[in-house]
This record gives sequence, C-alpha cells and structure tokens, in this order.
Amino acid sequence: MKVLGVETSCDETAAAVVSNGTEILSNVVSSQVAVHRPYGGVVPELASRNHLRLIDSVIGQALSDAGTSIDQIDAVAATYGPGLASSLLIGLNAAKGIAFAAGKPFVAINHIEAHLYSPLFVNAALDALPMVSLIVSGGHTILAYATAVGTHEILGQTVDDAAGEAFDKVAKLLGLGYPGGPEIQRRAENGNPTAIDFPRSMLNDGTCNFSFSGLKTSVLYFLRKNPQHSVEDVCASFQEAVVDVLVGKTVHAAENLRVTTVSASGGVSINRRFREKLGVECAQRGLQLLLAPAALCTDNAAMIAGLAYYQLSRGEPSAFSLEIAPSVGLGARGFSCQRG
Ligand code: KG4
Ligand code: ZN
Repeated sequence: MKVLGVETSCDETAAAVVSNGTEILSNVVSSQVAVHRPYGGVVPELASRNHLRLIDSVIGQALSDAGTSIDQIDAVAATYGPGLASSLLIGLNAAKGIAFAAGKPFVAINHIEAHLYSPLFVNAALDALPMVSLIVSGGHTILAYATAVGTHEILGQTVDDAAGEAFDKVAKLLGLGYPGGPEIQRRAENGNPTAIDFPRSMLNDGTCNFSFSGLKTSVLYFLRKNPQHSVEDVCASFQEAVVDVLVGKTVHAAENLRVTTVSASGGVSINRRFREKLGVECAQRGLQLLLAPAALCTDNAAMIAGLAYYQLSRGEPSAFSLEIAPSVGLGARGFSCQRG
C-alpha cells in the first residue's frame, strides 16, 4: 500500500511517498529557513504564502521521485495539527483535494504522533514496543509511553518553553543565527561544558515534566554579569544542562516503566551531544535506543505517510469534512484511563 503524505504545519513544505508504512520511496522537504532567518523566527504569513507557492511542485516531485503517479497511490495523508493555522490549511486542503479528485481515502494525521512513531518506522522495529519516547522539537518537549502504534499516553511535558525554543532563544541572546540549535551545537564543540553551572530544572523532582525558561533566564543574567564571557563556554554549558535534563528524565521514565526500548524524535534529537549521552546512558542500562536519521527528525512528510498506513490498517480513514486543529495536543489514545 502506497501513501502520499503532505506536511505543512510550520515552515517546511514537505511531501513523501511511503510503501507499507516503512519503505520510503521519496521524501521531499522544501525548507523556508532562508525566508524566515532575517526575522529570527517563523513569520506565519510568509510561511503560508510560500507553502501555497511550493505545494504543487513539492507533491509533484515526491510522486516523480517515487516513480509513481497519483493513480498508483492508495491513500493521501496530511497533517491536521498542531501547527500554524494558515500553514496547516495549505497542506490539508491540497491533500483533501487530491484524494477527493482521485477517489482515494484521505487520512488526517496528528503531527506529534507522527514524530513519536517515526523512529519505529525507519528502524522497522515495531516489535520493540512498548517504548518510552521523547519528542523534542522547537514546539514540543513531551515524554510518552507507547505500547502499540496508536496506543500511547503522555507521561510528562514542558511546563513552559520547549527545549528547541530554549536553544533558539539563547542563540538570540548570544547574537547567533536562526535556528539556534545547530549554531549552539557548533560553538559548544570548542567550549567547556563544565565552565558554568547552569540549573537542571526539575531533573530530580520525580515527575516526567520539564522546564526550560529558568535556564534561559540564568543564561541572560550570566551574560549581563559577565560581559567578557566565552561564547563557546556558554554554549557548551547551556547545551550540557539541556541534555542532562532530557536524557536523565527519559532514562528514569524507561526504568520506572520497565521498558527495554527508548526512542527520541524531533529537531533537538539531532543534537550530537544529546545522541552521544543518551546512547551511553541507554547502553549502560541495556536499553535499546531507536533514533531516526537527521532528515527524518526535523519536520518531514515521510513520518506522516508512515503513520497513515497504520491508521488505515486499523480502518481509520478520515472524513473530508475534517478541519485543521492548530492547538491539538498528543493526547492519550487507546488507554482506557490515565496511568497514575
Ligand atoms: O522538529 P523541528 O524541525 O520543528 C518543530 O516541529 O519545532 O525542530 C526545530 C527545532 C529548533 O528549535 C532548532 O533550533 C532545533 O530543533 N534544532 C536543534 C538542532 N538542530 C535543530 N537543537 C539542538 N541541536 C541541534 N543540532
Ligand atoms: Zn515537528
């Protein structure tokens, strides 16, 4: 079964064709980073205008890269939320239009759910469930527990900023470019991670929740007090504080729930220090670690088409009347009650 996936929740215009949920036949991502860089963040009106300009050619490219045409596609899927309303509208309506015109089923996908399951698909590791999964991007920092594809619950999440947001805001404080994560990682490589003792908020509070806004404020005060600071040391020490919390919380959750598989997804999970530390901590505890390659950690449509296959296999196509849901969360699915 071949699914055409479309993703336009933020500033990437993306389309992909995935066969049977795991085999990626094409994966086209047109990044708008250069458009938004002068503004230091995503400008919704510009994102929407560029999605509209690019969506047809990106979908066409995904079909031709996969050596297929719309007649040979079995279903069309798109992200319906969460994300920027004006951006979501473009991809969702393009996908609905194509599905309706071609007489194919349409599947609406939750963007966070797609991130959550993407490491399973790309590693063809469905038998590795149950797992504890960290979804860590510019918009989200969520620890989830999944027992089957589509059966999951939230263990905890950020109470203020997402981890990627913290990277972006601290980069701004330091006068570095956008997006901040890769810039901070690059400078951290020449810095001392123990130079400054930034706070590890909520690390040992016994919950699976996160907080990053205090860390950002600590960096701000440090910079004011130390005008002669080393940017490299600030980057390395800040990155180490974020990584310590992300890795510590994830590994603790895995131990508490007695799972043997851990996964991570989202833009921040590309971070080299994060991957290194999570790898070491998982290996020490005999935990299997599933990560996706970088291109599948940031926003893409392969994860949308991948998850759509499982939704369709469960007999869950979506109604054409389904609308965008800009602030939908991950939510619990398949559990009759929340775990204590
Ligand atoms: O998943 P993503 O592409 O978009 C969202 O759904 O948010 O994640 C983007 C976020 C940005 O905040 C960016 O700074 C961060 O991921 N990021 C990184 C790295 N690469 C991207 N953060 C830390 N280290 C990186 N190497
Ligand atoms: Zn995302």
